[in-house]
Parts: sequence; C-alpha cells; structure tokens
Amino acid sequence: MIYLITGCAGFIGFHLSNNLLKNKKNKVYGIDSLNNYYPTKIKRERLRILKKKKNFFFKKIDLTDKKKIGIFFSKINLDYIFHFAGQPGVLYSFKNPKSYKSNNIIATKNLLNVIHKNKIRKFIFASSSSVYGDQKIYPIRETFKVRPINYYASTKIVCEKLIRRSFANCKNKFIIFRFFTVYGPYGRPDMFIHKLLNNVKIKKTIKLHNYGKNLRDYTYIDDVVKILKYYIKLKHLKQNIFNICRSQPIETNKLIKKIQKSLKRDIKFKLIPKVKGEMYITHGSNKRIFKRFKLRFTSIDKGIEQTIKTYNLKGF
Ligand SMILES: NC(=O)c1ccc[n+]([C@@H]2O[C@H](COP(=O)([O-])OP(=O)(O)OC[C@H]3O[C@@H](n4cnc5c(N)ncnc54)[C@H](O)[C@@H]3O)[C@@H](O)[C@H]2O)c1
Repeated sequence: MIYLITGCAGFIGFHLSNNLLKNKKNKVYGIDSLNNYYPTKIKRERLRILKKKKNFFFKKIDLTDKKKIGIFFSKINLDYIFHFAGQPGVLYSFKNPKSYKSNNIIATKNLLNVIHKNKIRKFIFASSSSVYGDQKIYPIRETFKVRPINYYASTKIVCEKLIRRSFANCKNKFIIFRFFTVYGPYGRPDMFIHKLLNNVKIKKTIKLHNYGKNLRDYTYIDDVVKILKYYIKLKHLKQNIFNICRSQPIETNKLIKKIQKSLKRDIKFKLIPKVKGEMYITHGSNKRIFKRFKLRFTSIDKGIEQTIKTYNLKGF
C-alpha cells in the first residue's frame, strides 16, 4: 500500500509512519514543513529515525504552498492519505490565530483541492476533542453538539466541514478522528507530560492550571496507531466521525503524583487559577470505536512508565 502522511515529523504522524514502515511492502511518503512552533530538534530526530527505512520518502513541503503541493501530487498515486499536519495547541491560538488559519484551514483546503479523490481508498483527518468544548454530560459522544471555546477548535470544525463537503459524493472515503490528549515517547514538548519532564530536568516550576483540577482523557500513542490502522481498512462505515480516547480521564493533581513516583524525583509546581479557553474536562466515549474493534487500552501507569523510559534514554 502507498501512504501519505502529512505532519510526518510531528508526534502522531511520526509514530504512525514508523509503524507502517515495519511492513516492507508499504511505501510511506511523508510531508512536513518542519515549522518551529516547538523546537525542531525533536522533529529532526523523529525524521532521522524514519529516514533509516528504505520505504520512507520525505519531502519538506508547506501545505500552504499551492504550487509545491500541486507538483507533488501530480507525480504520485496514493492509497491512503493521513492528514495530520496542522497547528495544534489551545492556548497558543489566542497568541497567534493566523497560524491556525494558515496551517489548519488553508492547508486543508489546498490539500483537498489537489488530491485525486476517486483514486484514493481513504482520507483520514486528525481532528480534536477540543471541538466539543465544555459539555454538561460526560462521556462525550460523537453525536454531541460542538461547542468550541478557542480558535484552535473552531479551525478544526471548519476543516471537518471542508472534508465532509469535499467528499459529499463518496461518503465511505473519509474518516475524521477526534483525538483526546495523545501522549507517549517523543511526545510534544508543549503538552503537559513532556513540558513537565523538561521542567523537572532544568529544575523549573510548572504551573498547574485550575489548581490542578482539570481532567484529561490521556490516550497512549500505540493505542491510537492500532485504532487508526484497523479503521482505515474497513470498506463500509456507517459513520465518518470517531472519538479516539481511553474514556478514563485523570486529574492533573493525580497525574503529577504518578509521574513523581515513576521519575523518583521531586516536582516543583505552582497552583494557578483556570486559564481562559481551556476545557475543564475532556472525557470522551469510545463506544463507537468499540462497535467494530476491541482494544485493551494501555493503562496510564504503563504509558507513563514507557514515556519516561524513552525520555531518560533519548532525552525526548
Ligand atoms: N497530540 C494530541 O493530543 C492531539 C489531540 C487532538 C488533535 N491533534 C491533532 O493531530 C494532529 C497531529 O498532532 P501532533 O500532536 O502530532 O502535532 P505536531 O505539532 O507534533 O505535528 C504536526 C506537524 O505538522 C507540521 N505542519 C504544521 N503546519 C504545516 C503545514 N502548513 N505544512 C506542512 N506541515 C505542517 C508541523 O511541522 C508538525 O511537525 C494535529 O493536527 C493536531 O491538531 C493532536
């Protein structure tokens, strides 16, 4: 099979590419702009690992560059496209909304305009739990109304609409996955666990928003990859939107204790009030995913242990 993964140097794109490359019959094309939203050192390290495989082909392309992507797509035929490139992060969307418009909305529009919809088997999009905002009932099901409380979430909703419209006549050809706080080795340094590990390393205090009472539905990267790989193979899907979550949220205060135990080091933290635009709880339902695929999710203890092990060994 021939795969394209946009955002292959990013956290999720890297893990998926790395897994697909294990099958030598697969060809994986990766695109990434290698932007500096967070230090590029980790993106380059992820790429270095992928480039060791002969069936991986990387092209540094910014998806906002219509001309370049036009040329790229005129030369290849693809079976699956995973569109994981984008501008993530909730709080940064208040600081730099332009980056969300370009890298989420415009990038997705450009990509949809150049792909050969009839020829591909599936187009898979990385959406986010943040589209749901704060709800009254938990766990959140895919049928719940979206209630974005930050610009990041709004751009993901626009992308979802663009994809639905673009594939209106071929409903079985796209899947939108709404990820809930994915974590694991080589994780994003702007997300809580790796931010914490980096702070501990330099003995810096970490701020716990909402006095450490926020709840997050942490989902381990290997579980995410397993779900992605299973679902893309299904020919007929009744639905196109799926939550990917463990459905067992954990409070930041509890998570800190687990990390402290595993790290065997003191963690300096400061409790601060709720931060504007941040959700209080992310807690998804995974019933829809489980209808077709049974998976024993990685426990948070095991996931943290694996993450810290790689961090201690590789520094990421
Ligand atoms: N990690 C999570 O918990 C999580 C949760 C919900 C949704 N998501 C979504 O999943 C996707 C992947 O997330 P991630 O955690 O791997 O993020 P990431 O930032 O590590 O990866 C995204 C990659 O996309 C690249 N990119 C950004 N704009 C680009 C452009 N215009 N052209 C080409 N490449 C570009 C970046 O350089 C980066 O390497 C993102 O769309 C994100 O919004 C992630």
